[in-house]
Amino acid sequence: MRRKIVAGNWKMNTQLHEGLELARAVEASSGEKTSDALMIIAPPFTHLAKVSEVISEVKLAAQNCSTEESGAYTGEISPDMLKSAGVEYVIIGHSERRSYYHEDNEMLNRKVQLVLSKGLSPIFCCGELLEEREAGKHFDVIREQISVGLKGLSSSDMKNVIVAYEPVWAIGTGVTASPEQAQEMHKYIRDLLAGLFDAQVADDTTLLYGGSCKPSNAEELFANPDVDGGLIGGASLKADDFIRIVNAYA
Ligand code: PGA
Repeated sequence: MRRKIVAGNWKMNTQLHEGLELARAVEASSGEKTSDALMIIAPPFTHLAKVSEVISEVKLAAQNCSTEESGAYTGEISPDMLKSAGVEYVIIGHSERRSYYHEDNEMLNRKVQLVLSKGLSPIFCCGELLEEREAGKHFDVIREQISVGLKGLSSSDMKNVIVAYEPVWAIGTGVTASPEQAQEMHKYIRDLLAGLFDAQVADDTTLLYGGSCKPSNAEELFANPDVDGGLIGGASLKADDFIRIVNAYA
């Protein structure tokens, strides 16, 4: 059930024409795939509908969505809208959403539930700050983020949930978690899921690592038994680097 996934989070990068070019290049590069990892890209909202027309092997994610279904919420994008644009996955709770836009665990839980109710798959992100790790609180932070963020979900809901561990101190910094640090936290998350749900859910849930993952370090990160792939920021903006990360599994 658990599958290997490499997802590219483009963040607020690329104009529409550049995004389409990148999406076409990523789709073309999927022909060079030597691993069985699923490739997902998360372009900005404005690109989604057009990007969906130029990909097929590669699947489409959004970077965020509203907590609300529809109505008077100026500037918001609903899960139904995303679905109608060809989106299958939604990144929820990225640390940039948590820190710059004050999205808290309760709000993220509403988003996760709404996304699931629409038949989309959340890629639920968690991760501690450097000071939290230095204070030895990283496991507590992750436990709180996951137990509140995934509150109220059933074991059957969890079949459609992907969890991404992204230590905030590793995102966009060039400093990656060591393979040991990644494995230690992924194992912790898997054990946590066993307690919150059951052993089957723990075993079946895909756990991605994110934070300065690139072609030069993907292989050692992915070699860990509890690391099922990556959520890639900067290195997903170059199709060549992205496919090299995907093929780090082979
Ligand atoms: P990064 O970003 O690969 O540029 O560190 C990862 C992420 O934010 O998902």
